[in-house]
Amino acid sequence: MKKAKKIFLSMLTPVLALSLAACSGTKETGGTGGAESGIQEMTIKISHVVAENTPKQQGALKMKEYIESESDGKIKVQIYPNSQLFGDKDEYQNLIANNVQFILPDMAKLVGSDPGFNIPSMPFLFESDEAANAFWDGEKGQEIFKRLEKDGVRGITNWPNGPKHITNNIKEIKGPDDLDGMKIRTQGGKLQEEIYKTLGAGSTSIPFGELYTALQQGTVDGQENTFSNIESKKFDETQKYMTITGHNRVEYALLTNTKFWDSMNDETREIVEKGIEEGTKVARQSAADLNNKSLEKLKERGEMKITELSEEDIAAFKQKLAPVYKAWTEEIGADIIKDAESK
Ligand code: LMR
Repeated sequence: MKKAKKIFLSMLTPVLALSLAACSGTKETGGTGGAESGIQEMTIKISHVVAENTPKQQGALKMKEYIESESDGKIKVQIYPNSQLFGDKDEYQNLIANNVQFILPDMAKLVGSDPGFNIPSMPFLFESDEAANAFWDGEKGQEIFKRLEKDGVRGITNWPNGPKHITNNIKEIKGPDDLDGMKIRTQGGKLQEEIYKTLGAGSTSIPFGELYTALQQGTVDGQENTFSNIESKKFDETQKYMTITGHNRVEYALLTNTKFWDSMNDETREIVEKGIEEGTKVARQSAADLNNKSLEKLKERGEMKITELSEEDIAAFKQKLAPVYKAWTEEIGADIIKDAESK
């Protein structure tokens, strides 16, 4: 499929998915006592763990702006960045309990609910944000989101952040063997653990809100993340080296809970849906740009030695991680991985 057409479709599909998803609503209270018609007065909370100058916050701000203005202020949207309201450990449970109406976890933090959310952690699977978007907007991606319904959660769409790179405090990483003996913080899940085991390193998962301190105190030697997360959280203050590996990705799942979703009448839900669509556009459009700008800032700050890898070095990482890729293709489902590879 031509790239431009692919991008266009990737913008449209979430809307379609949302309209389909909206059909089953029973009218419970939406903040004002279950209005059958008219915009319901309510406050929507959006919680996430990263800083303000990130694609996640930019998308959330657009959602807020659209929903508040189209509802003439009847719907208020409060955004809580930087784990201010909930962190990695408790945001999912609080979503289920409807203490928050939207969260945007890195999919690696959802692997306990469904193995399909390991896909962004698969080494060198997606070549671009657009490829990842096309997968999550497509049939297989939507199937994975749907499986969260068992938890009372409605998976809506993905917001990309981008490829991850490795920072550490021990030595320059030029190839897969240089990680030997290091201890790396991961976002979570057995796949990420196996990646580092295969590279001869140990790993442990630590909530994002505790990562700066863990790096500073040497609880771990390094971590993997996008440029925008590394730069906006100033991880470079604690790390001496960064290698541009792009070995896998940070991908967000925009989630709401069914209790909240079903409490909205059609008029209210339409505004919220459109707000999600607008926020998704902004998040998707801003991710690559914010990451590029963050890389430039990291270079300017000069705290870390930044290493770019040759094609041969990247090929060496791919080769070393090939057995992990193969094993997890079976774990996730060969048909799903085939679909992801085709994007
Ligand atoms: C991390 O925990 O490193 C990231 O997934 C945080 C985020 O939400 O981008």
